[in-house]
Amino acid sequence: MIYEPAEDSYLLQEQLKNFVKPGMKVLDMGTGSGIQAKTAKELGAEVLAVDINEGCVEHVKNLEIDTIQSNLFSKVTGKFDIIIFNPPYLPEDPREPEDSARSTTGGKTGSEVLNRFLETAKDYLNENGKLIIVVSSLTKGINKEGYTFKKLSEQKIDFENLITYLIESN
Ligand SMILES: C[S@@+](CC[C@H](N)C(=O)[O-])C[C@H]1O[C@@H](n2cnc3c(N)ncnc32)[C@H](O)[C@@H]1O
Repeated sequence: MIYEPAEDSYLLQEQLKNFVKPGMKVLDMGTGSGIQAKTAKELGAEVLAVDINEGCVEHVKNLEIDTIQSNLFSKVTGKFDIIIFNPPYLPEDPREPEDSARSTTGGKTGSEVLNRFLETAKDYLNENGKLIIVVSSLTKGINKEGYTFKKLSEQKIDFENLITYLIESN
């Protein structure tokens, strides 16, 4: 299943316009439909897209964007000026089908995949490199150790708030 762009995708996409400059090296983690990768490319960046899901990888390759299948950074080499991630950030819900849960659910508290990402993301940043992410007010237990989080935008949808952050390594 390829995650159809939704409010979280658009809120994050909006921020790329403020930070991505021509010539920057940008990594789009969990690229899904490729919405963030495509936007970064249109803004003039050199983009690498990553997803764990083979279907997403094939889809984004067809957009003529360099794309690799990888579990987070396991197959990624190089360093980037900006790393974008719209992670699976919702706490587990047994009613959610397994297929869509792979795009939306980040373990018991919602932050399991994000915390694994944060553990190593700093090793893939150039000097002054930045992470740009989106999460939900329902996401608990984010491990911010080693990073400074700055809230960029917030949007209320039905039962949660979506929040984008600019993150720098300390
Ligand atoms: C919420 S979707 C975001 C899709 C797209 N970036 C967007 O903004 O609409 C999360 C994406 O992360 C991918 N993903 C989940 N776990 C991952 C992992 N461990 N490594 C790489 N990608 C992962 C999913 O396959 C899915 O495409």
